[in-house]
Amino acid sequence: MQKIIEKFERLRAEARLGGGPDRIEAQHARGKLTARECIEVLLDEGSFEELDMFVQHRCDEFGMGKKHIAGDGVVAGYGTINRRKVFVFAQDFTVFGGTMSESNTQKICKLMDMAMRTGAPVIGLNDSGGARIQEGVASLGGYGDIFQRNVMASGVIPQISAILGPCAGGAVYSPALTDFIMMVEENSYMFVTGPDVVKTVTHEDETAESLGGARIHSTKSGVAHFAFPNGMVLLTQLRRLLSFLPSNNRDKPPVVMTSDPPERQEHSLDYLIPDDPQKPYDMKELIDKVVDSHDFMEVHGGYAKNIIIGFGRMDGATVGIVANQPIVLAGCLDIDSSIKAARFVRFCDCFGIPIVTFVDVPGFMPGKTQELGGIIRHGAKLLYAYAECTVPKITVITRKAYGGAYDVMSSKHLRGDLNFAWPSAEIAVMGAKGASEIIFRSEINKAADPQALLKAKTDEYAERFANPFVAAQRGFLDDIIMPSSTRWRIIRGLKMLSDKQIDNPWKKHGNIPL
Ligand code: HXC
Repeated sequence: MQKIIEKFERLRAEARLGGGPDRIEAQHARGKLTARECIEVLLDEGSFEELDMFVQHRCDEFGMGKKHIAGDGVVAGYGTINRRKVFVFAQDFTVFGGTMSESNTQKICKLMDMAMRTGAPVIGLNDSGGARIQEGVASLGGYGDIFQRNVMASGVIPQISAILGPCAGGAVYSPALTDFIMMVEENSYMFVTGPDVVKTVTHEDETAESLGGARIHSTKSGVAHFAFPNGMVLLTQLRRLLSFLPSNNRDKPPVVMTSDPPERQEHSLDYLIPDDPQKPYDMKELIDKVVDSHDFMEVHGGYAKNIIIGFGRMDGATVGIVANQPIVLAGCLDIDSSIKAARFVRFCDCFGIPIVTFVDVPGFMPGKTQELGGIIRHGAKLLYAYAECTVPKITVITRKAYGGAYDVMSSKHLRGDLNFAWPSAEIAVMGAKGASEIIFRSEINKAADPQALLKAKTDEYAERFANPFVAAQRGFLDDIIMPSSTRWRIIRGLKMLSDKQIDNPWKKHGNIPL
């Protein structure tokens, strides 16, 4: 027995070494952690239970029959983050470049099946050369099996992908199917075809960084939700992200004790809106002052900055926040911001996270680029997402809510549960000047002093419509609230709505304009 135990211990020790000391050193030299080190940082200390440590590939081609490393390049198992169960797999770049084989994709599938059965998030740490070329279609089949599971798990358990190294070719589609992608700057990239292929096909000179680095994906393409300077920061922030999320779609989001009084008044908010309606202000100040302990985790912070999305807590309970940002493109809705917010609204809806929407939107972004780019189709995504969403929805209009964008931004008409406005709100088809130019055009054209008449008509229109009272008279607003009391009014509303029950009509699934 002693010999058997010793053999097992030796095999375990070998497996833990992955590709061996030299490759571990090379990994460190690149500024990267190994798969096991990542898992150690990510999970609560001592909580990791590894599964399938002795799995090996079954490939005989190209000399692979002589090369076996226990675990086959993926470390997989379960453990806890802040004492809550999670499943995690990490591609080990030190073993065959972290490439995906028939065997190690089966490890991942087994893990995902277990996560689905037991209702816990799956975290994938990606650092891989992609499909193991020696295995050919066996590897592609393995990827396909993961994709299918990614889709089945979507909306059932949270799925989070960290990209800590290469992630190229069709391999990108597993992370792409998950809820959040986090990347590290400099050391990670994602692309469907790399710089060499791009050069051959389109003659463009690109680098891995310019085609698929963290910066480009978190600011331009929107593929990545977060970019962090290194793996340690990423893994710490991944723990933070999970602290906002429920474990599955039947679970409630965790409630965290807070010392921040729910009735806290923020008098500075009474002065947040500038007197000049054309002057912007930073919506993040409002969010920051309203959530518990100023703790707001912004998602997609570098992308489509004209809308803000992210997680905060109100009296300890998670909320998803969506807010127009007046300091970027005046807070207009455009293609990117509509898609960004729509996906976030749908995520919150999947996982029972109430949505708080702060509105200051002058409308949809005008322009040929937007029209030809399909703002009609993409704007409809956000409209669709809010309209189908059944979680508690609280809306606060701080200033402008113009035109179709008023309807889109979680209005009463899209089943907003509580719709508030600050006294500074202006709810109208458009701004007073634009409205006057249209409805009084012939009068103004005929006037002796057209500018003076336009100003008079603009003032008249503003007096009549640039306020929240017309909407409140119709019941489209439930109340007009003092900015300083926003936090308390939202918290009270959320408590009232905590048992909200509402079902959409039975259907296989809707047909969101993709
Ligand atoms: C088999 C691979 C491999 C692969 C890397 N390796 N990629 N083995 N299949 N796809 C091996 C290398 O031979 C090497 O083994 C070890 O991993 C480390 O790789 P290096 O090249 O030494 O490392 P580095 O210089 O850092 O370059 C990393 C890399 C490069 C950029 C990832 O290896 C690379 O370009 N690999 C090919 C990537 C690729 O084209 N993959 C297919 C993508 S398409 P030794 O033993 O020498 O150390 C795809 C389709 C998925 O993945 C489809 C899903 C549907």
